[in-house]
Amino acid sequence: MNWLLPKGTSTVAAEVDALLQFIIVVSIILFIIVVGGTALFVVLYRKKKQEQVDFTKDLSHNTKLEIIWTVIPLILVTIVFFWGFKSYMKIRLAPGDAIEIKVTAQKWFWQFDYPDGVSNTNELVVPAGVPVKLVMSSQDVIHSFFVPNFRVKMDVLPNRYTVAWFEATENGVYDLFCAEYCGTGHSKMLGKVRVVSEPEYAAWLEENSSFGEGMSLAELGAKLYKSKACVTCHSVDGSPLVGPTFKGVFGHTVKLNDGSSVKADENYLRESILKPQAKVVEGFQPVMPTYQSILKPREVDALIEYIKSLGE
Ligand code: CUA
Repeated sequence: MNWLLPKGTSTVAAEVDALLQFIIVVSIILFIIVVGGTALFVVLYRKKKQEQVDFTKDLSHNTKLEIIWTVIPLILVTIVFFWGFKSYMKIRLAPGDAIEIKVTAQKWFWQFDYPDGVSNTNELVVPAGVPVKLVMSSQDVIHSFFVPNFRVKMDVLPNRYTVAWFEATENGVYDLFCAEYCGTGHSKMLGKVRVVSEPEYAAWLEENSSFGEGMSLAELGAKLYKSKACVTCHSVDGSPLVGPTFKGVFGHTVKLNDGSSVKADENYLRESILKPQAKVVEGFQPVMPTYQSILKPREVDALIEYIKSLGE
């Protein structure tokens, strides 16, 4: 039945799949017995001719039959309960030696903060064969962290931490979805989980702790545009998405929602990144989150340089 599900690439996947397959097989068998039996009786005992009507005698009950149809389902649901509970405990309780990564969900992207200060947006890089514990919270509404290949799904709530963990068994790039409707950008709240070998993971951490060194500001800005998920809501080709395009905005006069207008200079761009609700562009909703805690000062400069470089 493997075609039913994406390939399982975590330590709990096989167990989850086995239980699911057991439930599907039992359901199919019971469906055939119940619906097949009903159909058979409809044909066998249908009313044939008016004169042949032969009324059924009064029946009270059949103890043997009733015990059978009570005890068999009871055994089946008891198996499902204990099997499910055992897997559930395994999925809920992270091993003590797991790498702990902080996950922050926000309309409409994922931020991952690693123990040693590295952070990344929309791409969770983890080593294979090592348990990873995710401590998750949301900045706004309810989101849900869902990696189908790992059979891991957990709600991410504001004002509270929820925990999920997994141990990936195979290197590869896997889809990360938000599985809770969280507004206009929900369907674009997509991420990836990249599973690499342990040495590659160490190298990745190393490389990202010195992220942006030796790059020009505009180059760094172009990288941040993608890695900090600006790309979800702002195009660079002139087309409006959830937010206005970055193309040609610098130096131009921007019309605001309150009827006033403002010249798009460095200060306007900076304010729009750090305090997005201060000036909302005409025709757009005030839905952008603040990047105050997400970008370092040099990164704000870099994004502004990048937007400038997009010209007209
Ligand atoms: Cu976040 Cu749906």
